[in-house]
Amino acid sequence: MRILGIETSCDETSAAVVENGILVRSCVIASSQRDFGDTGGVIPEYAARKQLECVLPVVDTALKQAGVTNADLDAIAVTHAPGLLGSLLVGTSTARTLCALWNLPLIPVHHTLGHLSSTWLDCSNEPVFPVLTLSVSGGHTDLWYRTAHCTGALAATTVDDAAGEAFDKGAVLLGLGYPGGPQLSALAKKGKRDAFTFPLPMATQAGFSFSGLKTSLKYALRDIGSPPDAQTAADLAASYQEAICSHLSHQLGLALEKLHSCAEVHIVGGVSANTRLREQAQEICGQYGVSMRTPTTLRYCTDNAAMIAAAGEFLVESDRRWLGCAFQTQATQSLASQLKME
Ligand code: KG4
Ligand code: ZN
Repeated sequence: MRILGIETSCDETSAAVVENGILVRSCVIASSQRDFGDTGGVIPEYAARKQLECVLPVVDTALKQAGVTNADLDAIAVTHAPGLLGSLLVGTSTARTLCALWNLPLIPVHHTLGHLSSTWLDCSNEPVFPVLTLSVSGGHTDLWYRTAHCTGALAATTVDDAAGEAFDKGAVLLGLGYPGGPQLSALAKKGKRDAFTFPLPMATQAGFSFSGLKTSLKYALRDIGSPPDAQTAADLAASYQEAICSHLSHQLGLALEKLHSCAEVHIVGGVSANTRLREQAQEICGQYGVSMRTPTTLRYCTDNAAMIAAAGEFLVESDRRWLGCAFQTQATQSLASQLKME
């Protein structure tokens, strides 16, 4: 199928045209992220208004860049959950209207299923199942073990914050802007990762927890007393990033210890753009003799509509009833609604 994907779950407005879940003909992303540079996070009402301004021009550009018109499309796939409700509603209302106008079926896609599908985009050799995916972003941190696109089980999840949130909150403590991940990791490059010691959360049990790490960073800053000098700030950033990545890769190791049949490990979501996480995860995968993949470009790590179009394709492949089915736009929803649990 040739699917137009639409993604508006947070502060990115994206539209993409993807063929057969793999070949990306276009992927356009507009972002209001820079508007939140000094606010420490997204302001939902403002993000929704920006979505409204951007969505139609972004769709139009995606079609033009792909060299297609609505007559060349087989379906539209749209993120319907989870996310900021106002932002989601802009995407789903637009998609519903375009489907009615263009006489196309609509496929609702869970945002996380989009991230789990992002490693297929523009890949030259298709991944082989079973796949263990570490999905790390601003809203979720999970390990999913799948035997097919839409069949699998949750191997581990977070009990508090998401990994991206840990980066974002750490960045606020260090006086950096939003989104914190890219800025904190840039600062970390100038620091020593063993300068400060942070605890390893959940060392022996499956699961993620980041709130203790954030508190440790707060205490480290308090103990320093005055605002840290440039080198100390870089050392704190490097050590804090190291602690987050060690926790993520340690959990990956615990899961691989149990899941011997795993053919590939995938790392997806905004935090998968982090170089140090990739290095650490690669080392763990090497120890278990499993190959590791990340999305083919950084654009497919963070929120984008190409992954939503791909997930739409795979959903329909798993069950044709997803094509044109009724759905509700929801701020929270479990992936179990689209992933058959084993
Ligand atoms: O997947 P995503 O674009 O949106 C959500 O679904 O949440 O992920 C955004 C998150 C933010 O928390 C951002 O700080 C983090 O991904 N992020 C990074 C990096 N790039 C983005 N975290 C660490 N290192 C990066 N290079
Ligand atoms: Zn996301």
